[in-house]
Amino acid sequence: MAAPNSRPGAGRRGVCRPYLLVRRHRGQGADAGGVLLPGPRSGRSGRDGGTGYPGFERESGDGSRPAPARPPVVDRALAAGVAHEVRDPLNAIGVIVQRLRREFSPSRDGGEYAQLTGVVADEVKRVNRIVEQFLELARPPALQKRRANLDELLERAAATIEPQVAAAGLALERDFSGLGAVEVDADQLQQALLNLLRNAVEAMATGTIRLAAQLLDDDRVEIAVADSGPGIPPDELERVFDPYFTTRAEGTGLGLSLVHRIVSEHGGRIEVHSAPGEGTRFTIQLPRGL
Ligand SMILES: Nc1ncnc2c1ncn2[C@@H]1O[C@H](COP(=O)(O)OP(=O)(O)OP(=O)(O)O)[C@@H](O)[C@H]1O
Ligand SMILES: [Mg+2]
Repeated sequence: MAAPNSRPGAGRRGVCRPYLLVRRHRGQGADAGGVLLPGPRSGRSGRDGGTGYPGFERESGDGSRPAPARPPVVDRALAAGVAHEVRDPLNAIGVIVQRLRREFSPSRDGGEYAQLTGVVADEVKRVNRIVEQFLELARPPALQKRRANLDELLERAAATIEPQVAAAGLALERDFSGLGAVEVDADQLQQALLNLLRNAVEAMATGTIRLAAQLLDDDRVEIAVADSGPGIPPDELERVFDPYFTTRAEGTGLGLSLVHRIVSEHGGRIEVHSAPGEGTRFTIQLPRGL
């Protein structure tokens, strides 16, 4: 069942932030110096069926959306360099604004002073998160794969998100057992699952989030994060994997880019199925890697 999106701060803004250091990937495969990113779309009436991604098929009418197959790249060294350069002055601004709020008082209009410095502090936090996520995207694609029990990995993700789920008055269902071993980068996969689970929490006012997994065959597993939230309108659905696309005031729009990257690095694929009023379901298929 769908739930209205009425929680404070969960408002849809329809913002697509400007692309930073993104250049088009010319289809030669992931180059070693670049960061795989779903990138800006070339326009709705493009020759790729309107999605802007070569090989990225248009929605088939069932509300599903595969992740882009061949996204653009950013220059890894340049991206990391800029992110590092931004981080230091940003931290300084953050520390200074905290001091201004705590230790100084304005000559007039204390309320407005508190409000304005509060905006600066919040924006510093948000830009800081963008930089951190961007640095994460810019890291070399090195997976630290090891054998892990998939049930335990999923349970850890569920247990980590549970306090946020409870605090938001939502319910979390688990539907997985006896999945056995996989060979994955457990930390990265955990981060991908938490990004999906957190998105669900942030999108919903009431309802249920379901973390499910099954073995598809001896070699592949499927993991799904489904919610009974407001769903995603079609024009937004085709942009959710774009870096910096966010409808949340406090979002960076990089969460799903990271998820896509982590899944791709594992040789897997991710799809999203969603429609307004019908909730949202992200499905990841992964090789067990054993
Ligand atoms: N489960 C969901 N239900 C509804 N909308 C969603 C869901 N997951 C993602 N979205 C939409 O996709 C957008 C992009 O998600 P993404 O995780 O990349 O960024 P974000 O959540 O906005 O920001 P951040 O991850 O940095 O907090 C969201 O802003 C939201 O509009
Ligand atoms: Mg997110």
